[in-house]
Amino acid sequence: MSEPQRLLGPLTASLRAPFRTVRQRWRRSLQLRVVTATMLLGLMVVLALGTLLLHRIEAGLVQERLTAAQGEAARGLRDAQAQLGTATDSSTVNRLMNDLLPRLASPDPDDSRNVILLRAEGNRKPAVVPDLSSRRIDRSIVPQALRDRVERSGKQESQFVSVRRTGSDTETPGIAIGSRLTLPVAGQYELYFVFSLEREQQTINLVRRSLIGGGIALVLLVGAVAFVVTRQVVRPVRQAAVVAQRLSSGRLHERMVPRGEDDLARLAASFNAMAHNLQTHISQLENLSRVQQRFVSDVSHELRTPLTTIRMAGDVLHESRADFAPAVARSAELLQNQLDRFEALLSDLLEISRIDAGGDLLDVEPVDLRDVVARVVENAAPLAARTGSALQVRACPDAAVADVDVRRIERILRNLVSNALEHGNGKPVEITTAVDDQAVAVAVRDHGVGLRPGEAALVFNRFWRADPSRARTIGGSGLGLSIAIEDARLHRGWLQAWGEPGHGSCFRLTLPRGAGGELSSSPLALAPADDDEPVDVGAAYQRLPMPPLGRGTPPWVGRG
Ligand SMILES: Nc1ncnc2c1ncn2[C@@H]1O[C@H](COP(=O)(O)OP(=O)(O)OP(=O)(O)O)[C@@H](O)[C@H]1O
Ligand SMILES: [Mg+2]
Repeated sequence: MSEPQRLLGPLTASLRAPFRTVRQRWRRSLQLRVVTATMLLGLMVVLALGTLLLHRIEAGLVQERLTAAQGEAARGLRDAQAQLGTATDSSTVNRLMNDLLPRLASPDPDDSRNVILLRAEGNRKPAVVPDLSSRRIDRSIVPQALRDRVERSGKQESQFVSVRRTGSDTETPGIAIGSRLTLPVAGQYELYFVFSLEREQQTINLVRRSLIGGGIALVLLVGAVAFVVTRQVVRPVRQAAVVAQRLSSGRLHERMVPRGEDDLARLAASFNAMAHNLQTHISQLENLSRVQQRFVSDVSHELRTPLTTIRMAGDVLHESRADFAPAVARSAELLQNQLDRFEALLSDLLEISRIDAGGDLLDVEPVDLRDVVARVVENAAPLAARTGSALQVRACPDAAVADVDVRRIERILRNLVSNALEHGNGKPVEITTAVDDQAVAVAVRDHGVGLRPGEAALVFNRFWRADPSRARTIGGSGLGLSIAIEDARLHRGWLQAWGEPGHGSCFRLTLPRGAGGELSSSPLALAPADDDEPVDVGAAYQRLPMPPLGRGTPPWVGRG
């Protein structure tokens, strides 16, 4: 890690933490989402309406002022024209103009109307009345464009301007209305009335402030209403979620508390009715499952006695087969094989019954897994010879010691190795052991038929076989892996499968080193390293409750 990265790491982490909390809250809280969305929508509506309203008021006020100003300007022009009509020399015109100007402007202290007199640009008369303005209004505020229009049209023209006094920086909005004024002796002049829009501006500012204040209050109110309403709806939904969670964790007596008679009370009542029906059905199924389990257990036990007798008789026949005719001898052999299978199946069934009855205890002791593997490989040698697969052991150099029930672990590995040999198509089978601080693992890898997509989870189902019609020479009841996964689970371990058609399979057993330890990873990889495909692991299955014997029993039914 580079130096800046190392320094920035904690900073970005501390910035990210609150962001994550907000995002988490946003995703989890329906109420927060509804309130925020309502407030945002409310804000948008208030903004749109406020802007529209403000524009309307602004336009109305200005238009009204413009009409009034145009009237005042026309009246003022008429007065000026009438008063000046009598003058005959330039000094009288000058005096009259100086008297007239303050009267045309609004009387003090009202500053809303001012007057500017400007000599027309085309006026070449020798007699000159100087440009005048009331109350030190800056004469340059009259835009040239307005002057041109007045000059050209000869009618009253108006334009919005910024009013400024000479020597002052402050500007206020205003309207300039100009017309031509013919002065006796001095010729063409332009008379401009400049009306201040300050009062209108103040009114508009007041309206704007009120709209903003009102808008904020409205949005907050909408948010508060949304909060109260959603709270009323969300509370029972949250309660239902909590109760549903408790129901799913097995507390089937949990119920909601219906309040009142509204829709939410009906929801609570329907929820409770559903929970009640579920509870009844689950109890029935549990009873049924228990009866089925007992039936299987009883039948298995009952079969044991006659099987022992048949076995003894079969052994006698088998030993004397040399004295029989060839066809009868063959029958004695077949009988012996099938009796072996029958015995194995019966012992598996009894084991499953014991598992279903629960209360199985582990007889743990520190065991080196490499020794167990060596024993299993030795015992599997005849089968390996029969199938033509070589057994290759890759033991780790360090002792792979864990607290386990050796009988069960040996049973798991026996089944994994015999499965690998049976399905390994005569190719070598590798058995690898590994160990780390927390776990020990054994992986049995073959290069035979492999598993089709989805089968990595199915193999752990009871009585599941990839090809039920396949000729079976060994085992083959489909119970081996379902017992193995139960054994692994008793150790709080993992039994996982990986396989690809034509590329073989790998079954990995991972066990915590100390009894009762928790696993977080395995020291061995499940899929081959060069495999880019997503791993189809039977791992999901290991966390599900095991379906008890008997078809049609739902998987959530626990052991009786
Ligand atoms: N290494 C493997 N390669 C391919 N398929 C396998 C492998 N191991 C198990 N399977 C499939 O999973 C099925 C279930 O295996 P499981 O060990 O539970 O039963 P079984 O071997 O058929 O019978 P048994 O109860 O005698 O063990 C097998 O029938 C086979 O179809
Ligand atoms: Mg098997």
